[in-house]
Amino acid sequence: MSKSIAGFSKLSKSKKIDWIVDTYFSNAESAKNIIKQYWNTNEKLQQLHDEFIENTITNYYLPLGVAPNFLINDTLYTIPMAIEESSVVAAASKAAKFWLERGGFKTKVISTTKIGQVHFIYKGNFDKLQTFFNTVKPKLISTTKHITSNMEKRGGGIIDIELRSKTEAIKGYYQLHTSFETLDAMGANFINSCLEQFAKTFREEALNFDLFSEDEKQIDIIMSILSNYVPECLVRAEVSCHIDELSDNKVVSGRAFAEKFVQAVNIAEIEPYRAVTHNKGIMNGIDAVVLATGNDFRAIEACVHAYAARKGQYGSLTHAKIDNDIFKFWIEIPLALGTVGGLTSLHPLVKLALEMLHKPSAKELMQIVAVAGLAQNFAALRSLTTTGIQQGHMKMHLMNILNQFDATAIEKEKLVEYFKKNTVTHSAVVEAIQYLRANN
Ligand code: MEV
Repeated sequence: MSKSIAGFSKLSKSKKIDWIVDTYFSNAESAKNIIKQYWNTNEKLQQLHDEFIENTITNYYLPLGVAPNFLINDTLYTIPMAIEESSVVAAASKAAKFWLERGGFKTKVISTTKIGQVHFIYKGNFDKLQTFFNTVKPKLISTTKHITSNMEKRGGGIIDIELRSKTEAIKGYYQLHTSFETLDAMGANFINSCLEQFAKTFREEALNFDLFSEDEKQIDIIMSILSNYVPECLVRAEVSCHIDELSDNKVVSGRAFAEKFVQAVNIAEIEPYRAVTHNKGIMNGIDAVVLATGNDFRAIEACVHAYAARKGQYGSLTHAKIDNDIFKFWIEIPLALGTVGGLTSLHPLVKLALEMLHKPSAKELMQIVAVAGLAQNFAALRSLTTTGIQQGHMKMHLMNILNQFDATAIEKEKLVEYFKKNTVTHSAVVEAIQYLRANN
């Protein structure tokens, strides 16, 4: 039976672990050993990780892989990817190589605007509210100067504040809908600080606004928070080539490949059941780079899926067509990323990942991440529409199955060789291990 505990966060790390292992594990010692096995022996580094969050008991590892040969706007990149799924980095590398030989990826940032909102309730006359907003707007901006001045020096800051009425949906509900340019920062702290200052100024100034009745002066601030939906922070990545260049082998012609590929994308454009899996594959690439570069993958995920449903039906994030025998495949997605602030200067592996990417600006990182998504989708659709996905997937999964059976280095070597020519299924691998062990 579990039990509750008061003051857990105040306990020392070792007391926390004691309580966890004593409460939840039949073999407390073994659980403690697993937890400690993942501690870093470098105490300073461990402390850094301990202090990222509350109640840290250990570290949770993900592999950090790299996918080389990404040619993006004529610059070569090796892309760092933090991900546990066996086939993702291999697929990215394959797609990178494929497009390296066909001109590479072309990308451009379309826009970089971020959004934040103060949500409030006002039950009075709208014209008076509008007049009040127009009067107070310069003061909203001037009272945030202590927050915005540095950002402004670098060319960013508040772009505009609008008063938006949502009273048709919720009685008395309005917003200060604000747009921001946050340059190389993801901007969450900057935006939230500005919004909280707006809310304070807005409420205080309302108390002194002569046109308001006593009731109207009582503006009720509900909350002030950035929006992770950033449809105006958009990036585009594209590949294209003549359809004849698409054929890797003589079995499928370039045209047949291209036509089938475009159909696969068309299906994802109109069929939500397929679109979710299609986009999941894109996010395999995107999340892995977002995570490796210390960005917030939950924010990216939430935004991207809202964007995929912006027309009222969930659909594909990528698009493809054949125009005059030219195959074109592209993605256009919102990505709010940062290359300064947050984990970027704190986590040694994040710093390393950013340096590997030539220390990109946020705009450059948006382009790299979009390419990772497009490449991943290309690799997935290429497999799906030709060999099927399992062939490559299971090949990469082979090592996981071998590890489940504690295969030795020699067993691994022999079985990897054997499965170069044989189909990998879970049962085939199990049989092969058993056979090998029985005949040794
Ligand atoms: C698996 O993680 C991702 C795929 O299912 C994506 C897709 O179906 O396009 C292969």
